[in-house]
Amino acid sequence: MGAPVKSFAAPAVGSSRSEFEADVIAGLSREPKSIPPKYFYDAEGSRLFEEITHLPEYYPTRTETGILEGHARELNGTVPEGAALVEFGSGACTKVRILLDNVPAIAAYLPVDISGEFLASEAATIAASYPRLAVHAVVADFTKPFVLPDAFARMPKTGFFPGSTIGNFEPHDAVSFMRNAVQTIGPGGVLVMGVDLVKDPSVLHAAYNDSAGITAKFNLNLLRRINRELDGNFDLRAFEHHAFYNRERRRIEMHLASTRRQKVMAAGRTFSFRAGETIHTENSYKYTPGSFAALARGCGWTPETIWTDPAELFSVHVLRAR
Ligand code: AVJ
Repeated sequence: MGAPVKSFAAPAVGSSRSEFEADVIAGLSREPKSIPPKYFYDAEGSRLFEEITHLPEYYPTRTETGILEGHARELNGTVPEGAALVEFGSGACTKVRILLDNVPAIAAYLPVDISGEFLASEAATIAASYPRLAVHAVVADFTKPFVLPDAFARMPKTGFFPGSTIGNFEPHDAVSFMRNAVQTIGPGGVLVMGVDLVKDPSVLHAAYNDSAGITAKFNLNLLRRINRELDGNFDLRAFEHHAFYNRERRRIEMHLASTRRQKVMAAGRTFSFRAGETIHTENSYKYTPGSFAALARGCGWTPETIWTDPAELFSVHVLRAR
């Protein structure tokens, strides 16, 4: 075992219960109704997402892992000696092992995630596997600017943002994230990012409508969370999972559709649904290698390398902060 993992709650930017409450009230009062996808990841949602990553139809995780395994050693020389690796939205902390195994210059690991419980145990597992690595979990909503613990602020930093989580951001928010990330990583630092690619819509459709129904459970778990944390009375049998590719906007949309006209209570309010009315729960934007490189370039990053798999399902960008 290495040193015990410290956990650091970044001040004032964590997603508190009251923020969840405010976002749910605002989102269900809006027309059309919507709730941000970051709220999928309570303990059960994190577990269901982990299950999604193993589904035969869900190509992103295994494709990205293959790309990283094939190329991680090329990061030697690019990542400075003694670097702190900052992972945005670390979830199960599995892909980072590929970097830790192949890039010895990494001296510290700072996983940043919104889901505190899950993060602490995953970070402890990493610390146990890499005894010489300083591991420090940062509980923060990385969709907003956040601060790193003092002890790491002076180390050279490398960013890691795998999984195409950037796809959840509206184009405008993706730009803000990329601009903030220049500040977090610092000039000359590198950011390694996984970005899902535009492709045959039937492949995308299958990935978000798996035959085992796990993605549907993942989507519906949001209502379960509202019931538990915000005193809701959503009937999970009266909502269904909808996921489809929006070609014009190059994104998968996920919705929860009310199967009938109904009223639902949550957070002390009543919300009315028409039959067929949906709550928009997620967008997952897809990019071409060129469209993402152009976005990054416009945000203070210089694209150094783009790695893809032979079928061009997924891309990994290596970017340097100007
Ligand atoms: C974690 C945002 C990359 O968009 O593919 C998986 C989330 N939603 N199945 C994705 C997700 C439904 C995932 N990201």
